[in-house]
Amino acid sequence: MICDEQYKRIMSLEIEINGKTFESPLMNAAGILGTTASSLKRLADNGSGAVVTKTISHKPKEGNKGPNLIETNYGALNSMGLPNPGAKNYLDELKSLKPLNKPVICSVFGETPRDVKKVGRLLKEYVDIFELNLSCPNIEGEVISSDPEIVKKYVEEFAHITNKPIWVKLSPSSDNIVNVSLAASEAGADSLVLINTLKGMLIDIESGRPILGNKTGGLSGEAIHPIAIEIIYQVYKKIDIPIIGVGGVSDNEKAIEMVMAGAKALQIGTALKDDIGIFKRINKGIKSYLQEKNIDLMDIVGLSHKY
Ligand code: FUM
Repeated sequence: MICDEQYKRIMSLEIEINGKTFESPLMNAAGILGTTASSLKRLADNGSGAVVTKTISHKPKEGNKGPNLIETNYGALNSMGLPNPGAKNYLDELKSLKPLNKPVICSVFGETPRDVKKVGRLLKEYVDIFELNLSCPNIEGEVISSDPEIVKKYVEEFAHITNKPIWVKLSPSSDNIVNVSLAASEAGADSLVLINTLKGMLIDIESGRPILGNKTGGLSGEAIHPIAIEIIYQVYKKIDIPIIGVGGVSDNEKAIEMVMAGAKALQIGTALKDDIGIFKRINKGIKSYLQEKNIDLMDIVGLSHKY
C-alpha cells in the first residue's frame, strides 16, 4: 500500500540541485528554443523544470555559414557556431524572464576565461545558475574542454565573479572526460553537464562536397545516447557533484536510463526541436514507472552502480 505522503513524493518529481528547486528534472538543452524570453516562457509553460538560454558571448556572434543543420534518421549534425546577440543585447530578454518562477540557467561562452567573465558580470543579476559552455565543437581550434588545465582556469576565474552556482558543460571528445570532470569539480564547478555533441561530418556523394558550410559539426540525438550513458556512468563513479545528463533523450525510457547511470536532471535538445509536448510526456512516463515500482526519483539516481 502506498501512503499519501509517499504517493505525493512519487508524483511530484521535484528535485533540488545546488540549492535550487526544480519542479521536474527535465529542461531544454542550450541552443534549443532559448533565444528569446518568449520561447523560454513557452518551454516553462510546457513542463520544463527550468529554462536554459542560448549560449551567450560578450560580443554578438553571427555564427557559421550555412548549411548549418542536417537532420538524419539517427540524429542531427549542426554547425551553428554559437550565433547570439551578445551579452548587452541579451539583457532585456533575461530581465523580462524575472517572474518565471523556475530556475533560469544562462549558458555562457568566451574565447578566453577573461572574455567569459565579462559575460558573467553583465548578466549575473538576472540569472539563477550559469552554465559554462566549454565544449562547442563548432568554434575554431580545439574544443576548450579537451584540456583539464584550461577547464580548471575557466572555472576558477569564473567563480571569482559570481556566487551563483556554476554548471560546466563538457565534450565527449576529450581523451579522458573523467579527468576533465575532476578538474572542473576541483576548480569549483557545482554541477557537470554531460555531454555536448560529438564532432562529425557528412559528405554529399554526388559532388563529394562536405554538406555543412563549416565542413564539420556536432552530432546530437539518439545516435549519441549510449555514449552519454557510458560517460555519465564513469563520471558518477568518481565525482560526487550532481550530473545533468544530455544526449539523445527522446522518451521516458531513455530518460530513466540516464538517471540510473547517475544523472540527477536531464536536458533535452534534438527531440525537443519539433515537439514542445515532450516534457509533459516524459514527466508522465517517469511518474508511471515510479508509481509501478513504488519508488521515488531519487531512489533511481545512479541505481545501475549497484551491479
Ligand atoms: O554551434 C553551436 O552553436 C553549438 C554549440 C554547442 O554545441 O555548444
